[in-house]
Amino acid sequence: MLKTQTTEQISGHGMWSSKLAFILAATGAAVGLGNIWRFPYVTAENGGGAFVLIYLGCIALVGIPLLMTEILLGRAGRHSPINSLLQLARRSNASRTWSGVGVIGALVGVLVLSFYFVVAGWTLAYVWTYAVELVGSHAFQDTPQAHFDALLASPARLLFWSSLFLAVSVGVVAMGVEKGLEGSVRLLMPLLFGLLLIMVGYGMASGHFLQSVVYLFEPDFSAINGNVILQAVGQAFFSLSLGMTGIMAYGAYVPRDMHIGKTAAIIALADTSVAILAGLAIFPIVFAFGLESTGGQGLIFVTLPHAFAAMEFGNLYALAFFTLLAVAAWTSAISLLEPATAYLVERTSFNRPVSVLIIGGSTWLLGIGSVLSFNYWSEFLLWGKNFQELIEYVSTNIMLPAGGLLIAVFAGWIVSRVIVREQLADMNDDLYRVWRVLIRFVVPIAVLLVFLVAAGLI
Ligand code: PHE
Repeated sequence: MLKTQTTEQISGHGMWSSKLAFILAATGAAVGLGNIWRFPYVTAENGGGAFVLIYLGCIALVGIPLLMTEILLGRAGRHSPINSLLQLARRSNASRTWSGVGVIGALVGVLVLSFYFVVAGWTLAYVWTYAVELVGSHAFQDTPQAHFDALLASPARLLFWSSLFLAVSVGVVAMGVEKGLEGSVRLLMPLLFGLLLIMVGYGMASGHFLQSVVYLFEPDFSAINGNVILQAVGQAFFSLSLGMTGIMAYGAYVPRDMHIGKTAAIIALADTSVAILAGLAIFPIVFAFGLESTGGQGLIFVTLPHAFAAMEFGNLYALAFFTLLAVAAWTSAISLLEPATAYLVERTSFNRPVSVLIIGGSTWLLGIGSVLSFNYWSEFLLWGKNFQELIEYVSTNIMLPAGGLLIAVFAGWIVSRVIVREQLADMNDDLYRVWRVLIRFVVPIAVLLVFLVAAGLI
């Protein structure tokens, strides 16, 4: 069986040109709005320090082992996630229903993307605003808050910018994942990183840096409850793109000689650094300008413009920042589209462009609900949440961790040990044992416990 896993067999999907190409693509999938838009605002809503501590714990104990697992299952299966899972189940004499994990993953990808592309549209709208400012016309409303509110109030503007974002993502996936992705990550990611460092430097000069460090890293354990823990777990999954088989889809194109453990550690480190840097860039601004730290989803779109307005060449920095953020969001959006697209390519007679158009079109339709959540439908609440908030909450905090739990059980208990060990052949016995204990026991039990605690059952 294993003989068939040569690279030539991977029909229809292509292959990463090198190990570095995979690291870049996976880092591109991980680093995105999750780190820069979501991490600061969810941290603020959950009280800071304690949330960050749990988040970091999840990255180490759940995130890295699962990242390795998704890559290894992808590489062992060499197909779209659904078919990889199916094949691995067959080769392990297990039930074919395990491929259902892939079906759910592909659907969750579409659900996440349905609000992700709307927020990415905000980023593009800001790119436009700052471009206009830069050429000398006045595009920014009086205050950052007023500017952001005006954007949300206009379904037409939201729809325009988000559709543009989605159309480009669909275009890239239509060409095949490996093209276009590598270059943009290799070049633009370091730039985004550098720009974040400049913003952190600005924060240091603002005199509120220490306050921000304390806020982010001093845990106040009285602030912890079931929901805070659930949010931290959800954010860890969201940020690393875990639980929806996107990384598994990328893993299918990974070269045979790549060291999976090291690669997972590098990706997690890069992703976490960007999130922490974003926090260290944003909270000094929040404190320096006396803004509301619990500003919700608009946090970066309201706080950063305050700083840009006060900085020399601020409009230029702002233009660069939102452009790079849009690119980071693109490389993530692509990974959200990939599992469902790869499945259609394998299973139907549709080619790649048609498949991605079908998936992208469905995402767009669902996204209209998110667009309207910020204006016409803002009063329609279910469990205290509007449509967009509900999709974000359920997909991030429940479906991604649940998917991760199933993936861990599959890899730890169902897939034959020989297949797994072969994928991790370059890992020494001790580390391999640690990984196995984490995947068989720690990850499933931790996720289950968090669900029970958040549901108030324990
Ligand atoms: N990890 C991406 C980000 O941080 C978003 C994402 C979530 C991608 C879930 C895939 C799956 O922006």
